[in-house]
Amino acid sequence: ITISKGNHRHFMLKEIYEQPIVVAQTLRSYVRRLDGELAMPAEDFDLSAVKRVTIVACGTSFYAGMVAKYWFEQFARVPVDIDVASEFRYREPVMEEGGLALFISQSGETADTLAALRHARAAGQKIAVVVNVPTSTMAREADLLLPTHAGPEIGVASTKAFSCQLAVLAAFAANLARAKGRLSREAERELVRHLAEAPAALNGALAYDEAIEAVAHIIAKARDVLYLGRGPDYPLALEGALKLKEISYIHAEGYAAGEMKHGPIALIDEHVPVIVLAPSGPLFEKTVSNMQEVQARGGQVVLISDYDGVQQAGEGCIATITMPKVHPLIAPLVYAIPVQLLAYHVAVAKGTDVDQPRNLAKSVTVE
Ligand code: G6P
Repeated sequence: ITISKGNHRHFMLKEIYEQPIVVAQTLRSYVRRLDGELAMPAEDFDLSAVKRVTIVACGTSFYAGMVAKYWFEQFARVPVDIDVASEFRYREPVMEEGGLALFISQSGETADTLAALRHARAAGQKIAVVVNVPTSTMAREADLLLPTHAGPEIGVASTKAFSCQLAVLAAFAANLARAKGRLSREAERELVRHLAEAPAALNGALAYDEAIEAVAHIIAKARDVLYLGRGPDYPLALEGALKLKEISYIHAEGYAAGEMKHGPIALIDEHVPVIVLAPSGPLFEKTVSNMQEVQARGGQVVLISDYDGVQQAGEGCIATITMPKVHPLIAPLVYAIPVQLLAYHVAVAKGTDVDQPRNLAKSVTVE
């Protein structure tokens, strides 16, 4: 099959724009919207016995796993251990017999992740995989296959696979919570409703493309950029920084907003743009107070929040980007759009090869 860019200038942009559709497509296998019930591809896999989850992945898939850790612990109260695949085996991880190990990979072929999977299998773990390629090696070696339905992803920097991974992981967290008896019928319906709202919210986020492009022209002049977030949006800050590094070659770092005072605040001056991801919700106030610490030191803040958040805290920022107001559960999915588009437009402004960035490969099959 040949895959075309359609009307888009790059595969990456096409794939960013496909997200509302592919996330909806993916969610269809995990929720029954009509009756507000969760569904699982493998109904016979017993989740009630899961006492601990070990998550392993690389790159963008690892950041999806980091978001999942917040969800699994918050909703299912199941402790999660997470590591990048290249570190996992060598730290001699402790895994209880019969535990669940979860591997996340767009390609299903990444050598480090595959080696980690086999290591976990040898340590007596049940193996679950979230993969986008259903014929991949990881898919074949899994006990529980949790597919994403993002379709072929061509751009080397992952975008739509990431949001589909988040959709699957959110649904899986909810399934786990239900299996653990931690989700009333009412709460389940509520979660399903929020998940089902994700595709429309992603569309809402895409509508701000032009505003994001305008911000990209500021960022393109920077040498260093910081991304800050808290809770499940902290991994999004890491992902934002990774995307920018990957395709625009600008040095960027993601940080937990509250940790910034322990180091990176020393970097702040009027030349360092700081992108703050702060959706309304329980962590908003704290994130804003970290943002104000940056502003007090001359930092140039770009605030990404919803209308209420921007109204409340947008003053003094060099730019604001308004996202749809969503339930905190789906905020990481929605906030993926502005960080992807920002990186994309910065890369275009810099004239780099967006779909084939230097030194990177779509699937890394060496350890
Ligand atoms: C490469 C790609 C990344 C990707 C990572 C993990 O480094 O450039 O975009 O996130 O591999 O790939 P996987 O297929 O395992 O998700």
